[in-house]
Amino acid sequence: MRLLKRRQRPLLLTLIVVLGSLWMLSLLSCSKAGKDPASPLRYRQFEYTDDDGSPEKACNCSAILRGDREALEQAKLLTLTKDFHKSVRIPDEYYINAAQDCRKFKISRKYLTVPLSQEEVDFPLAYSMVVHHKVQNFERLLRVIYTPQNFYCVHVDKKSEASVISAIEAITSCFSNVFMVSQAVSVVYSAWPRVQADLNCMADLYNASTKWKYFINLCGQDFPLKTNLEIIRILRSLQGGNSLESETMPPEKRWRVANAHHIADGQIQPSGKTKGPPPFNLPVLSGNAYIVVNRGYIRSVLEDNRILALIEWAKDTYSPDEFLWATIQRMPGVPGSMWPNSKYDITDTNAIARLVKWEWHEGSQGSPMAVYPECQGNHVRGICVYGAGDLQWMLEQHHLFANKFDTDTDPIAVYCLEKYLRQKALAELY
Ligand SMILES: *[C@@H]1O[C@H](CO)[C@@H](O)[C@H](O)[C@H]1NC(C)=O
Ligand SMILES: *[C@@H]1O[C@H](CO)[C@@H](O)[C@H](O)[C@H]1NC(C)=O
Repeated sequence: MRLLKRRQRPLLLTLIVVLGSLWMLSLLSCSKAGKDPASPLRYRQFEYTDDDGSPEKACNCSAILRGDREALEQAKLLTLTKDFHKSVRIPDEYYINAAQDCRKFKISRKYLTVPLSQEEVDFPLAYSMVVHHKVQNFERLLRVIYTPQNFYCVHVDKKSEASVISAIEAITSCFSNVFMVSQAVSVVYSAWPRVQADLNCMADLYNASTKWKYFINLCGQDFPLKTNLEIIRILRSLQGGNSLESETMPPEKRWRVANAHHIADGQIQPSGKTKGPPPFNLPVLSGNAYIVVNRGYIRSVLEDNRILALIEWAKDTYSPDEFLWATIQRMPGVPGSMWPNSKYDITDTNAIARLVKWEWHEGSQGSPMAVYPECQGNHVRGICVYGAGDLQWMLEQHHLFANKFDTDTDPIAVYCLEKYLRQKALAELY
């Protein structure tokens, strides 16, 4: 009975989210933004209007979110022009200068300066944001998830360009609940430091406040699909559970943990040595870098001796971010965890942590192998960088966040999504 209920819950949740999204779509219209007579004055300052002269306003976001072909064609034409890209680009120097005057910066960028509801105040979140370039993507992400009651730890890669570090330091200095990680590391793709970056933020966040309930980690090219209120309601419905990909490790990935590696010339390389089994013979599961976990899971990561041993063991494996969180999620005694039996396996599509479109899983609906419709943007290392044409489908999914977005690829996708979320957040006030 319990199992049945657990299975039905995501379905019901999806239904609620879909209906909610449809309702919002019916309300949303680019031209009407800011003219809602029911809007209380104190929140009007947070509305995204067309008055700020952003070049993206030429698009019709309400039509785009409905999947209107003509509006999408127009958006595509716009994104193909060099001038348009130039005009929407926000350089690092802008942030460095603008954030000198924090009050003005927050007003002009329309950051929320008050919580929107008591319900949200009562359920604070902790975010780890691991970034290495593209400040504009980071700032748009921070702006859309920022609320005064949450906590945000930002890890900027130690080897990032000076202007990237300066710009992000300047932005974070404007908020008491947004801070730079105390220990930044040099991140190496597919190697241990990627995990260490999140670990350092976890420790800082855990120490920064005892109040937050859930932890979510992000990279600079993620973007939410839900408002803060929707996110906390979905998290409450997990009833203390965690939500992340965690599956039996496929045989073709076993080499990753069977062989030792080291970092040379900034890259991960095999050491030619075989590794021993994991401590306590813990079953190693497969997942990804992005997790939605309760505070107790983070406490375990920081304090549980079995996990500290697992962490030491994992330091010379390949792509530890793609098995460590998944493995911890299946350890007995970790809050919100599940038994390791494969009956409890959860895929990335079933977990709510992150929506990612892998190129080889795309296809048309009805084709037996396809997992999701084709990418409407373009691919980077086999992952879809979303285009405006992906939005309608994405907003029907249950995931809290999606990866990847890039204002250099499709600024309209980001623009329409942030506008939709802000309008929805303000509409939730009534
Ligand atoms: C946007 O598109 C909708 C149709 O989807 C249309 O009703 C509306 O007038 C359009 N708005 C603008 C500003 O063109
Ligand atoms: C926790 O924060 C306090 C200051 O608030 C600091 O003194 C202490 O070193 C921190 N501990 C850790 C483990 O970061």
